[in-house]
Amino acid sequence: MAKVTFEKTVEVKDGKTLLDIAKKENIKIKAPCKGKGKCGKCLVKVISGKTNPPTKNELKFLSEKKLKEGYRFACEIKDMDDLVLEWPNKKNEKKNEKKIEK
Ligand code: FES
Repeated sequence: MAKVTFEKTVEVKDGKTLLDIAKKENIKIKAPCKGKGKCGKCLVKVISGKTNPPTKNELKFLSEKKLKEGYRFACEIKDMDDLVLEWPNKKNEKKNEKKIEK
């Protein structure tokens, strides 16, 4: 079973997105498009670990620089192994949202 660490470490089952896991763990994260990869509000930063490669939606919204820095959409991360994440806090949220614009 894979592990995901954000505010705490949890074990996750295959087939769930990071957004699903966050909701289950009561981690507040904005997701106005309900996990369809269209709004960019569920931005997270991958510090370490393995995930699926960026999806078409992420490639559309995130600059190459942001992807290299580890920014991803929580709703688009499906495969994960020993993932350590940084979740944008409220103060940085708007800043991060702006940064994903091309
Ligand atoms: S919830 Fe909208 S992009 Fe992830």
